[in-house]
Amino acid sequence: RIAGPSALVIFGVTGDLSRRKLMPAVYDLANRGLLPPSFALVGFARREWSDRDFADTVKEAVKEHSRTGFDEERWERLAEGIRFIEGSFDDDDAFDRLTSTLGELDRERGTDGNHAFYLAIPPNSFPTVLSQLKRTGLAGSPTDESWQRVVIEKPFGHDLESAKELNALVNSVFSEESVFRIDHYLGKETVQNILALRFANQLFEPLWSSHYIDHVQITMAEDIGLGGRAGYYDGIGAARDVIQNHLLQLLALIAMEEPISFSPRELQVEKIKVLMSTRNLLPIEENSARGRYGPGWQGSEPVPGLLDEGFSPDSTTETYAAIGLEVDTRRWAGVPFYLRTGKRLGRRVTEIALIFKRAPHLPFDDSMTAELGQNALVIRVQPDEGVTLRFGSKVPSTGMEVRDVNMDFSYGEAFTVSSPEAYERLLLDVLLDEPSLFPVNEEVELSWQILDPVLAQWATEGVPETYEAGTWGPTGGDRMIERTGRTWRRP
Ligand code: BG6
Repeated sequence: RIAGPSALVIFGVTGDLSRRKLMPAVYDLANRGLLPPSFALVGFARREWSDRDFADTVKEAVKEHSRTGFDEERWERLAEGIRFIEGSFDDDDAFDRLTSTLGELDRERGTDGNHAFYLAIPPNSFPTVLSQLKRTGLAGSPTDESWQRVVIEKPFGHDLESAKELNALVNSVFSEESVFRIDHYLGKETVQNILALRFANQLFEPLWSSHYIDHVQITMAEDIGLGGRAGYYDGIGAARDVIQNHLLQLLALIAMEEPISFSPRELQVEKIKVLMSTRNLLPIEENSARGRYGPGWQGSEPVPGLLDEGFSPDSTTETYAAIGLEVDTRRWAGVPFYLRTGKRLGRRVTEIALIFKRAPHLPFDDSMTAELGQNALVIRVQPDEGVTLRFGSKVPSTGMEVRDVNMDFSYGEAFTVSSPEAYERLLLDVLLDEPSLFPVNEEVELSWQILDPVLAQWATEGVPETYEAGTWGPTGGDRMIERTGRTWRRP
């Protein structure tokens, strides 16, 4: 579906997210013919830029990061609707200029009063921007014929309490139906494929329970370090940065019951039920782990440790976090869900592995199955998108030795079209009023409710253990899972 007449206003347009993701996504949508001729893009920031300067910045970002290739003609058409407002968030005058610019675009370019406000800004600026949108009337009113929406980027708070405050603040200006919280993992094709894999097939669902599954591992490993993001990251850490949102959303999609339909409300209801029944494995100190990277090697390159990147030695911020959870329902009773994430790990990979129980009986000599592991279904979210089924197979020989093999499905081989970038899909959904892929405030609050006790435990523990960059994390991470005789997969 093509978006209708609309303007997208981005606050925080000079930031990294804008340059790497948002601006290229807007252009790629235009290039795929999914934005109407009347679409407009408005940037707001504290730079002395003209509309032209801003358009040039967008163009540069597009040339560097576009997925669809640069087309001068398409670009020119998009560029005609690009405007820039210079100002700081507490500058009434700048917001008045934004209001009149949007008015002009409505009349001249035909954006028709439909405005989406994207807050790609630090959360401590949310109150100021939201109150400006209210003061100027830009946040709209329920009687408007046009629509006004707000898009917010994580972190959605710092803990349960601040998340509640944030939700109350946002909802005091925009009704919940007009709030779109971005969790870009939900925009990934492979994440949406979890629903297709589970609910379009007969093969997997009968096995999808504690009867057959021993445990679940959800891994989001990154090879990059913090680089320039140290300022943002210090005081946040890996658990708040990605477990609270991306990894708990993955858990919800894996553990949920079949929704009545894929309508937004019915999907939410099922995810909410999972989050409501998710508990920490106890005691938390033995079922969680954290670390921070020291210097090491990535590939054949030496890389610096966190402390060489501007972190203070007594910072308690973690760059590796692992937690153990259980979903307290009949389907999942007794099945641990292990979640882990880290920067500067062995390689970049996000995957969900369902590890099956061993066969109850093996009619083979023990020596024949010495190398037979547990069956596994691995959903490879990235970078090598696909699904792997791991099972035992006879080794060619005159004997009956059995060993693990992989059966692989790869997106790249099965489909010739490439998947759209997560931000493209999500931005389009905002303009189309398609809320299925956006967590609602209840999901956000439930996720914090799960994480808060872990964070409280960690707050008593001081500085995290150091792990060597390029490895799979701190020894605490291994210990936590090995306590129950299990091990992390080496993806
Ligand atoms: C973001 C985190 O949400 O996800 C970053 O804030 C992380 O720290 C990024 O690097 C990873 O996203 P992706 O899509 O590359 O896995």
